[in-house]
Amino acid sequence: LNFNVSRERRYILEVLFNGLRRLEYRGYDSAGISIDSSFGPDFDVFPPPLVFRQAGNIESLVKSVYREVAKTDLDLEESFSTHAGIAHTRWATHGEPAPSNSHPQTSDSGNEFLVIHNGIITNYEVLKETLVRQGFIFESETDTEVIPKLAKFVFDNAIEEGDRRVTFCQVVFEVMRQLEGAYALIFKSRHYPNELIACKRGSPLLLGVKEITEETSDGAFFNGANKFLSRNGKPKELFLSSDASALVEHTKKVLVIEDGEVVHIKDGGASIFKFDKSKYKRGGTITRPASIQRALSVLEMEAEQINKGKYEHYMQKEIHEQAESLTTTMRGRLIRGGSCKAKSVLLGGLKDHLKTIRRSRRIVFVGCGTSYNAALAARPILEELSGIPVTMEIASDLLDRQGPIYREDTAIFVSQSGETADTFQALEYALENGALCVGITNTVGSGIARNTHCGVHINAGCEIGVASTKAYTSQIVVMTMLALAIGGDSINGQARREAIIDGLFDLPNKVKEVLKLDLEMKELAKLLVSEQSLLAFGRGYNYATALEGALKVKEVALMHSEGMLAGEMKHGPLALVDENLPIFVIATRDACFSKQQSVIQQLHARKGRLIVMCGKGDAQSVCVGGSCRVIEVPLVEDCLQPVINIIPLQLLAYHLTVLRGYNVDQPRNLAKSVTTP
Ligand code: G6P
Repeated sequence: LNFNVSRERRYILEVLFNGLRRLEYRGYDSAGISIDSSFGPDFDVFPPPLVFRQAGNIESLVKSVYREVAKTDLDLEESFSTHAGIAHTRWATHGEPAPSNSHPQTSDSGNEFLVIHNGIITNYEVLKETLVRQGFIFESETDTEVIPKLAKFVFDNAIEEGDRRVTFCQVVFEVMRQLEGAYALIFKSRHYPNELIACKRGSPLLLGVKEITEETSDGAFFNGANKFLSRNGKPKELFLSSDASALVEHTKKVLVIEDGEVVHIKDGGASIFKFDKSKYKRGGTITRPASIQRALSVLEMEAEQINKGKYEHYMQKEIHEQAESLTTTMRGRLIRGGSCKAKSVLLGGLKDHLKTIRRSRRIVFVGCGTSYNAALAARPILEELSGIPVTMEIASDLLDRQGPIYREDTAIFVSQSGETADTFQALEYALENGALCVGITNTVGSGIARNTHCGVHINAGCEIGVASTKAYTSQIVVMTMLALAIGGDSINGQARREAIIDGLFDLPNKVKEVLKLDLEMKELAKLLVSEQSLLAFGRGYNYATALEGALKVKEVALMHSEGMLAGEMKHGPLALVDENLPIFVIATRDACFSKQQSVIQQLHARKGRLIVMCGKGDAQSVCVGGSCRVIEVPLVEDCLQPVINIIPLQLLAYHLTVLRGYNVDQPRNLAKSVTTP
């Protein structure tokens, strides 16, 4: 946050805290903040910035800051005509959640340089050794701590060599030259009051610009000499953030910062430079590259989207808004057809690449977590309609194996956030190997959206709950539409495609219907609340449902649960079956229905404790002797059934979590966007 209007300390703190609250879903094990202290009587000396850090969630930080402030003579009403503040919420990679490991990390006790960081510094050990030899004492276990210390080292050297006018940018350029890994960084320094420098490589970064049009009550939002005016003369508040949800309540005007760019914010104005590491020589003069001009983009997100509305938790809200999110996902993409025109699908972001995709030797889906499961749910229909072999890759595993990817492959990267480090690195790997790369993301401007050759946005709206729900169903629908588009040139498949398109049109209604199972799933959750473990068996389209249902229960309700391929049941998992272990079997009608009926019988013969999900009216056909519990769901076209079937399991996971007293939106140890590999 940087501004050049008159603002009180309390306002500054609250804007930063609110920003952290918005970003909390990205990491919530510790947090920190730095703001300026007051000038002392000696006006020439800029006092060290104040730093507050705390383990735990944002509210613990907020409480501790106000507690600390109350102990000092800091005045919350004191006004600043320009100010640069930074704040950070952390998902620990190096070092446990503790105040000393929280950000801002500092160069020294005088807070000469402060840094907040999203990402991972891979050469921090080498840098640390060098800095320790230079006398720096490290206090944290983080990789980040080398950054402010390196900045101080560079700054001190420049001063020692007589360069009293070394600029903040020059210091940061030299630090960037030495850093390896992934980062979005913001620097604040006692030596450069009212300035911030941000730079990025790999991790996301946005600059938000808010022009203040109305005067503040005292009318004094800049001083007489226009000293604090930004380039176009209007007073501004500038925001830097890892994602749009922290900005949207202030401004929709943003600049997506690219890799290698450096943003220099000073007195409410911002300049952007491209830092080219290869042009930088060790020991050479630190010159400032020419600034670059970039147009602002306008965020489509609405501030209301990131509120809970009438719901208690984001996950609950996101489960219940799936009829609407799916409608938005499909908007403008389904063509109803007419008397002489077939029903079809239009995916604007793919139209120039469809021919190449159809000629591919193979389609490879790449993703992690829920996004991987969504791709798995769509795999059968993509194979059926395209006739192209489709293989599945968990991003980290593809990288671990360096699995073969060819020029004739189409690689499809599925990621809600568009910035998961594993998926992004797999994308870089596929690009190097010459595959056509397609992105399916929920985040316009994300790394995956920008670096793939083409793609489709799922338009599910902002998803805040760490456990992905509405993005999952929208991803399946987008990948089904992708299958329809790829297979759209075959005459044979026309009737099947039209049936699926009709099913898509009707899907939001069926979603509304299945959501009515909410109370029933709450009752089921009450029955299962004390269980240690659950199993879920699915096959065909619904193997993914078993995996995803189990993942939801595992990640939010913190209950051990495994999704399994029903075809594998007799090859091992059957040994686990007894009268106590709850077992879900997904047995909605499709080509695998009769096989699932025999799975149920085999489980029943071993006295398994069965909970069967079946189509409405099918209870008798699936439940031998009426001895199992049944969840009846509306039936839709087979390939769309996973969209319906996951919803009762999402509801179950939600209610189990509430009943077990765990944090629904911020499950233990997890983060929504894992931006470190
Ligand atoms: C994290 C989240 C999961 C998510 C996965 C992939 O592990 O906790 O909920 O499914 O990342 O995220 P992406 O943004 O790539 O879909």
